[in-house]
Amino acid sequence: TYVVTDNCIRCKYMDCVEVCPVDCFYEGENMLVINPNECIDCGVCEPECPAEAILPDTENGLEKWLELNRTYSESWPNITQKGDVPADADAMKDVPDKFEQFFS
Ligand code: SF4
Ligand code: F3S
Repeated sequence: TYVVTDNCIRCKYMDCVEVCPVDCFYEGENMLVINPNECIDCGVCEPECPAEAILPDTENGLEKWLELNRTYSESWPNITQKGDVPADADAMKDVPDKFEQFFS
């Protein structure tokens, strides 16, 4: 599966949802997540994200993000169309450690 990671937080560009063939993105206030049970590993979303927030879970150290994607995709609503991008998305793009600062 692919997972959404730290870089998405407060950027939330949503280009990813427009290309997913199985509509497996779910929307929280500050970021999106992928439902790992629904993702078919096509990889189409990865290059679409301007924040480079989407990674294959085969990369090292992503266990925390896989669990977060799994957990929140069960309660957040499905999203299939791009909405309004946060006004400060570009300013938030290169901010490090956004999980600790902003995730709620
Ligand atoms: Fe959707 Fe493919 Fe991305 Fe999985 S890898 S979330 S199926 S676009
Ligand atoms: Fe987030 Fe990138 Fe999608 S910033 S909403 S994973 S396009």
